[in-house]
Amino acid sequence: FMNKRPIIIDTDPGIDDAVAIAIALFSGELDVRLLTTVAGNVSLDKVTYNTLRLLQFYGKEVPVAKGADAPLIRPFLDASNVHGASGMEGFDFEEPDDHLLLKENAAEAMRRVILESDRPVTLVPIAPLTNIALLLKTFPEVKGNIDEIVMMGGSAARGNKGVMSEFNVATDPEAAKIVFDAGLPIVMAGLDVGWKALVLPEDSAKLPAMGEVGRMAYCLFQKYRGGSMKTGLKMYDSCAIAYLLDPGMYQMEETTVDVELSGSMTAGCTLVDLKGYLGKPHNAKVCMDIDQDRFRTWFLNGIEKCV
Ligand code: BDR
Ligand code: CA
Repeated sequence: FMNKRPIIIDTDPGIDDAVAIAIALFSGELDVRLLTTVAGNVSLDKVTYNTLRLLQFYGKEVPVAKGADAPLIRPFLDASNVHGASGMEGFDFEEPDDHLLLKENAAEAMRRVILESDRPVTLVPIAPLTNIALLLKTFPEVKGNIDEIVMMGGSAARGNKGVMSEFNVATDPEAAKIVFDAGLPIVMAGLDVGWKALVLPEDSAKLPAMGEVGRMAYCLFQKYRGGSMKTGLKMYDSCAIAYLLDPGMYQMEETTVDVELSGSMTAGCTLVDLKGYLGKPHNAKVCMDIDQDRFRTWFLNGIEKCV
């Protein structure tokens, strides 16, 4: 227990969030001290409810704090086209009670957990970055006890919300910019590695036999529109957890990332400045490529451990 790495997951479940959280909770190597929720794939109320449903299903007592119900500046647009109206279509969860739900909001709870920790805490945002930006701006004193930020978001290639912008960053580009400019060590697992982090048909076929969590994942995957059961399911958010647990599966580049804010067609584009055009100091390590077979094996082992 002493050696477990303390983390906070900021999330918007979300089908790929649901399995990423499962792998983190059951890995045995991570100490998930807090889950915070943010408007993203669906509304704040729905993602918070989904988080509580997941924790009850997993049988894990992790406190949950509700965060922002909309981006800092821009209007909120969800991704229910990818995850279904509830955000987690495809499986009947039991009704959770709300004993895990804190009275503090996400930024307050993160501040407390970070400052109370004996060891620097790693933040793992797998959703729009609104809560993390609010935390860093409101309580900058937390920076001294943050180990790093390992995020799923952005892209070193093209986008999925706009031509050049990925959903988590494009939903709240101003928040993402605050995070990239915060002076903290950042690891970015972007959309383009997520495209390669595939669960292939022969992999998903193994899930139903892997116990309750495998069966749940299999059911959700039928409704997931991030890829398809036939061509492979894109496990975006698991990419952040994979970096924490098995970073060797990635090819990394230390570089500069900035976020486009003013482009009328490109707002939320992450400029991964591999050639130094922006003339700014490095602020991030970016996952540039992933060993696909190693990811698949890692993913299936991760789900198999969820008992
Ligand atoms: C990201 O957007 C969400 O739909 C997924 O959960 C993931 O966090 C991928 O762009
Ligand atoms: Ca997500």
